[in-house]
Amino acid sequence: MKAIVVAGLVVAGLVLAGPASASMELAKKGGCLNCHAADTKKVGPSFKDIAASNKGKAGSDAALVAKIMGGKDHPKVKASEDDVKALVKWILAM
Ligand code: HEC
Repeated sequence: MKAIVVAGLVVAGLVLAGPASASMELAKKGGCLNCHAADTKKVGPSFKDIAASNKGKAGSDAALVAKIMGGKDHPKVKASEDDVKALVKWILAM
């Protein structure tokens, strides 16, 4: 019984860690981590601060993707639009 519970926790941990670290890889690959970190301010605000300040704003993810891809109000990034879409979704869910 105990072994089953432990195995269940391990599986749950893998499921939770999987997508999050895949996104972290994407953020690294896209150069985002040069200026951002999950919970500390670097050149740009932390992802958690970004999520907090956009909480409850309808359509904020589309606006943020446009802002980041626009390369005017946000430094130019080398990530593709699809990657930025996935990253913004991930950031706002923090
Ligand atoms: C050269 C540094 C730099 C890089 C690289 C960078 N950012 Fe930023 N980012 C900033 C700065 C500075 C701000 C705060 C000013 C602003 O809002 O534009 C910011 C703000 C943001 C915001 C919040 C914007 C808002 O209006 O609330 C998001 C979301 C974001 N960045 C996502 C990303 C993603 C995703 C990547 C990688 C594809 C990335 N950033 C790469 C510097 C950077």
